[in-house]
Amino acid sequence: MGARRISSLLFRSLSASSASVSPLLFRGKNPSRGRCIYRFSTAAALEEPITPPVQISYTQLLINGKFVDAASGKTFPAYDPRTGEVIAHVAEGDAEDVNHAVAAARKAFDEGPWPKMSAYERSLIMLRFADLIDKHRDELAALESWNSGKPYEQSAKSELPSFARLFRYYAGWADKIHGLTVPADSNHYVQTLHEPIGVAGQIIPWNFPLIMLAWKVGPALACGNTIVLKSAEQTPLTALLAAKLFQEAGLPPGVLNVVSGYGPSAGAALASHMDVDKLAFTGSTKTGKIILELAAKSNLKPVTLELGGKSPFIVCEDADVDKAVELAHHALFFNQGQCCCAGSRTYVHEHVYDEFIEKAKARALRRIVGDPFKKGVEQGPQIDSGQFEKVLRYIRSGVESNATLECGGQRFGSKGYFIQPTVFSNVQDDMLIAQDEIFGPVQSILKFKNIDEVIRRSNSTRYGLAAGIFTKNVDTANTLSRALRVGTVWVNCFDVFDAAIPFGGYKMSGIGREKGIYSLNNYLQVKAVVTPLKNPAWL
Ligand code: NAI
Ligand code: MG
Repeated sequence: MGARRISSLLFRSLSASSASVSPLLFRGKNPSRGRCIYRFSTAAALEEPITPPVQISYTQLLINGKFVDAASGKTFPAYDPRTGEVIAHVAEGDAEDVNHAVAAARKAFDEGPWPKMSAYERSLIMLRFADLIDKHRDELAALESWNSGKPYEQSAKSELPSFARLFRYYAGWADKIHGLTVPADSNHYVQTLHEPIGVAGQIIPWNFPLIMLAWKVGPALACGNTIVLKSAEQTPLTALLAAKLFQEAGLPPGVLNVVSGYGPSAGAALASHMDVDKLAFTGSTKTGKIILELAAKSNLKPVTLELGGKSPFIVCEDADVDKAVELAHHALFFNQGQCCCAGSRTYVHEHVYDEFIEKAKARALRRIVGDPFKKGVEQGPQIDSGQFEKVLRYIRSGVESNATLECGGQRFGSKGYFIQPTVFSNVQDDMLIAQDEIFGPVQSILKFKNIDEVIRRSNSTRYGLAAGIFTKNVDTANTLSRALRVGTVWVNCFDVFDAAIPFGGYKMSGIGREKGIYSLNNYLQVKAVVTPLKNPAWL
């Protein structure tokens, strides 16, 4: 069912007609090129990028309900990864702006209406926001794809609906958060209050800019907190538009502040701020360690971390090879391979290995790479030149360590950051491509003989984010799902991300869980209130 589910999600998105894009939204920099979006069948997309059907309206920081320039007056460029061209200059927040934003969030928490509002009223604002997201879906999707390079149809048909769904899910929680009445040994009335924690600092990455915002902002708001969000420097644009829509939905000023800027300046200032009560981060394990250290060295704010991964995707002997190939392909190549949970170690049983390699290679060769605004395109460019170079370096390392390069291995086209879908076979566990998070369209296929061996090898990594298992045997599925030291096991499916399913890592893949009921604890304090009971009828 799960397999069908992800495929249908992806295929639904791929079959969607872009005729649904409103021509009224067609206000790109060059209107004459704008018509190109209807020219799906030409091969010229990379040479002549399709004009995205959206205008960039918000580039300043959002502090205390107002769009403002950075205190320093500085800006930084936002790029189009299809070409490497600058599409906007965005206010560059640093420590001073973070101070202003935290002060606004503090005031909104200590004195503002938000934490004092009934939970039902808060949920209504979140629901109104979700409705506005639906209304502005095409605009947000176009901006997300323009700035990140992900296929427009993926943004519009899959990620934006998920984004709105996440806020409706958390709106549903807002008025269901409450404490307990606790029995005491003595004559005391004991209650627990589940209180908002205060000012939440949130630092997000560029691979799913809006979805990562929702995973963090949703539970923080449901619990009554205020927020300073630092978006990724590669993808600052959609967070600003979303925050603007939140204001339109009635979110009071200062509740959600957005500071665009770089990690070592704005991000570090937020992580080490003495007046930030909680910090949530998604990104690399390397930066996660820095965040934890900054939190420890400042005010010991609690930290949740969603970090890197090297997820095994295990194809057992009894698997339907065609289905396994398709799912393993999506598990790795989805979002240009830029997923923390990407199935980046494809373990295949020796009895089906040769057949699997042939079919995995054929599937990768069929993958449609091109302009993310072109209908049917499955893969756009990598996010930026740094990631592009990093992925190509890993490909070279795979070749040098004598893995077999089945296909791909080169840049795609001559512009921007496109990379050919790449498949390696004969990969060994000790090769760098089997150990490091590549974060690109590079599938590494490894052979195994039996279940005990694949459990041992799957677990022999510093990461523990997710795993995929492909088998028809329920006993094998049960054995593997309990033995794998990871936060999510997808059995005969992959990348199923409902709002209610908790997500997070074992080992160096992170601390804590996001989504679902488990995420609420990240944004709550528990207070015990103890009162003497005079002459009670019972205890
Ligand atoms: P990163 O972890 O450095 O950046 C993620 C976020 O952290 C961004 O908002 C960035 O500005 C911020 N940041 C960076 N340095 C910081 C610091 N010293 N203090 C506070 N905040 C800081 O990730 P980066 O450099 O963009 O990518 C490097 C690698 O990380 C990728 O190649 C990939 O392997 C991994 N990655 C994993 C992600 C995931 O979803 N788990 C997402 C993005 C990257
Ligand atoms: Mg970094």
